[in-house]
Amino acid sequence: MKAIVVTDQAAGTAGMKLVERPEPQAAINDVVVQVHASGFTWDELTWPPTWTDRLGRDRTPSIPGHELAGVVTALGYGTTGLSVGQRVFGLTDWYRDGTLAEYMAMEARNLAPLPGDVDFMVGASLPMPGLTAWQGLFEHGRLQAGQSVLAHGAAGVVGSMVTQLAREAGAYVIGTGRAADRQKVLDFGANEFVDLETNALEDVSPVDLVFDVFGGDIAKRSASLIRAGGTLVTIAGPTEARPADGLAVDFVVVSDRAQLSEIVQRVRDGRLRTNIGNVSALEGAVATFNATERRAGKTIIRVRP
Ligand SMILES: NC(=O)c1ccc[n+]([C@@H]2O[C@H](COP(=O)([O-])OP(=O)(O)OC[C@H]3O[C@@H](n4cnc5c(N)ncnc54)[C@H](OP(=O)(O)O)[C@@H]3O)[C@@H](O)[C@H]2O)c1
Repeated sequence: MKAIVVTDQAAGTAGMKLVERPEPQAAINDVVVQVHASGFTWDELTWPPTWTDRLGRDRTPSIPGHELAGVVTALGYGTTGLSVGQRVFGLTDWYRDGTLAEYMAMEARNLAPLPGDVDFMVGASLPMPGLTAWQGLFEHGRLQAGQSVLAHGAAGVVGSMVTQLAREAGAYVIGTGRAADRQKVLDFGANEFVDLETNALEDVSPVDLVFDVFGGDIAKRSASLIRAGGTLVTIAGPTEARPADGLAVDFVVVSDRAQLSEIVQRVRDGRLRTNIGNVSALEGAVATFNATERRAGKTIIRVRP
């Protein structure tokens, strides 16, 4: 099969190569999926699991990509809940070969059925941002209707999902981003927009929940905006930022079949809009990853035209 591999961490995306690899086998509880579309996250080549196994041993040449939509072609021993020929989408294990390939093996529990009326490219664009937004808002942030959310990077892949899901849940949403993205953020449903390039974060009214995607100084300054009993949720890694009287949670998204189904149902009935950016074929993927123009939205690789 054709697959994109990485071997050289220092080279970043420029070191990615399209090669021939053996097709994967389904282990216990696995399925093999023929990948139709794959999602790629810009900084995943900086994540240790792209390069090593769980014991920290080099696992290159490894195949990146953690989101996919495709069709099940084989079941491993003991695999239940999915069948051969079924359309699926989901989020893969961080430490196994990923979705920038024509076939991939993964645990069935990390996939959900993809309804027949949802395009594979849309399916591949949902798992990471959809699950991250869902888990940050509702599991870690315990968001309730009537509360307020500061959604950082609200024109971005995760932030646009955070904005839409929070609004649907009955929250008041203040979205942040670059000045040029004001209308985009409002179109995703934010009640207000804060331009981080010129507006002072300190002028924002207190909120119940900050959903941080940046870390660093912005996370710290945002923590002081949180009302008593509120929560700072960050996906940018461990942070020292803490609300004076509230919770700080940093987390890494996990796959969840029930949540994937909730998310895709919202796309089907028009409550949730995905945020797709560049689209390319597997053959052109490395060039797309290395393009120098601004890369707004989720990058999708159409593995099977
Ligand atoms: N922990 C987890 O489970 C988890 C899950 C998913 C993602 N992540 C991480 O979360 C981060 C965000 O991911 P994403 O896919 O949503 O990225 P993204 O699509 O690039 O979104 C970030 C948004 O914030 C904007 N932005 C960046 N720096 C800014 C600044 N200084 N001022 C104002 N706006 C700024 C970006 O604009 P430009 O495009 O113009 O820069 C973009 O609109 C990444 O680091 C990703 O790895 C973590």
